[in-house]
Formats: sequence, structure tokens, C-alpha cells
Amino acid sequence: MSEEIAIKNATGDKEIYEELFPQIRSLLSEDENVLSNMSNFIAAINQSFEKISWIGFYFKTEREKLTLGPFQGKTACTTITIGGGVCGTAAAERETVIVKDVNEFPGHIACDADSRSEIVVPLISKDELLGVLDLDSYDLAAFDEIDKFFLEKFVHEFISRFGAELKKMLSSISKL
Ligand code: SME
Repeated sequence: MSEEIAIKNATGDKEIYEELFPQIRSLLSEDENVLSNMSNFIAAINQSFEKISWIGFYFKTEREKLTLGPFQGKTACTTITIGGGVCGTAAAERETVIVKDVNEFPGHIACDADSRSEIVVPLISKDELLGVLDLDSYDLAAFDEIDKFFLEKFVHEFISRFGAELKKMLSSISKL
């Protein structure tokens, strides 16, 4: 299995996602732990899109909050209340949230003041919320239905393979 991700023929976001999907599928490995897989998962997406300023996971805690997991980008808020901010809204509604302009989203949490738009995809395994995948951009309206479709597909692939292990890992972290 090669760790190298190469986007060669893509002309737009849809094509990038289409080239990326099989590469992420083979990059993920059941021989490795879930944290390593999460880290490579976000790195592969991040290095494929210039528009991403920040990408990472938040885990759902037993205290009904979200706590920072593996990410790429600037330092970020460590704890988010479920129902608060874009991440907490996606977690509470269990639906992907696309924010074209963060200044128009009441309660947006500005971890990076330069962030302009955002998409958050919930991680649901067997009806249980395990966390969210969050992507930010310095561009306005960087994310749309194409990102939603493919990021949900990517997350589904990840959770179908590593959801059980992620759940087990979360239950073993004492500070959650
Ligand atoms: N903007 C997010 C907070 C997380 S950072 O973007 C990394 C929110 O409103 O939930």
C-alpha cells in the first residue's frame, strides 16, 4: 500500500474527489490504528485541495461536548458545546452544515479570524454520533453540494471500516 496521494487529471472539485476516493480507500488500513487512519484521511484531503485552510475531527465526549481530534491547520478550539457553533449544530442536527459566509452564521466559533466559509459533516455509526469532520476555508462560499456529497461518502467509507474501533477508543480516553 502506497501512502502517496496524487491528483493528476482533475479539472475541478468533483474530479478531484473522484480521483481521491479510491486512493483514500487504499490508504486506509485495518492493520493500523484508528488515529493513524484519521490522520492520513485528513492529510489526503487537505493536500488535494488548495481551498482548505483547516481540516480536522472533533470527537463527541461522554459529557455531550465535542473535543479536538486529529487535524491539519492552525491551533484550534479544544472544546465545543453540542448545539454551539457550526460543528455543534451539525452534531446536534446530525446533518451536514454548509456555511457560505461564517459572518452570517449566528454563533460561529472563530478559531481562526481569517476563516470565511466552512462545512461540517457528522460522523454517525449505527445511529450513534461519534463526532464531526470540519473543513474551513479562507475563501467565501468555498464549499457546496459537491463537497457535501463526496465528504459524506468519504466519511461513510471511514466510519463503515473504523466506526467500531473509534467508538472503543473514545470510551477508553479518560479525559473525554
Ligand atoms: N468554526 C467552528 C469551530 C471549529 S474551527 O473552525 C476549527 C464552529 O463554529 O463550530
